[in-house]
Amino acid sequence: MEIHRFEKRWFVVSLVLIIAFIATIVYGAAGVGVQMIDDDGGQIDPSNVRNAQGFSDPGVHQAGDGEYDVYVIAYQFAFEPGSNDPIRVPADTRITFHVTSSDTIHGFSVVGTNLNTMVIPGQVAKFTTVFNETGTYGVVCHEYCGDGHHTMAGTIEVVPEDEFDGGSNTTDMEGGN
Ligand code: CUA
Repeated sequence: MEIHRFEKRWFVVSLVLIIAFIATIVYGAAGVGVQMIDDDGGQIDPSNVRNAQGFSDPGVHQAGDGEYDVYVIAYQFAFEPGSNDPIRVPADTRITFHVTSSDTIHGFSVVGTNLNTMVIPGQVAKFTTVFNETGTYGVVCHEYCGDGHHTMAGTIEVVPEDEFDGGSNTTDMEGGN
């Protein structure tokens, strides 16, 4: 069987393309330090979120030297804290978010960063980050969660570490369930 010269060339070109596509996927998945959020955060009873450990007092809590835990409850159509009060955290410290939902599936995406997770009832999304830059970051829900979805947003205020007042900008009791 004879293969035409041009066919051979196109065969080589398509092989090179396939290898290039696979290389970009591998690089995007492993080369730029993207981490998937796994089930590390554990499971809780979604109908009883406010009695679950950490979520009975949502907000920012110091966990150690330069380490903070942030517990956030998402519900239709707010983040608590985040929507009524900003989530205030110090810069250049390790911030571990624990985010869960008390009703339906929401999203938690911090604008301008690669922090992005689904928020699933019964599951705690846990992820750690360091904010190197002070300023205000927007948080948006990016999973359609009902007729108020487009209003579901919040803010994170990153302040210099020496201006941070120790956290617990917590209890906003309105809304909620
Ligand atoms: Cu919550 Cu969309």
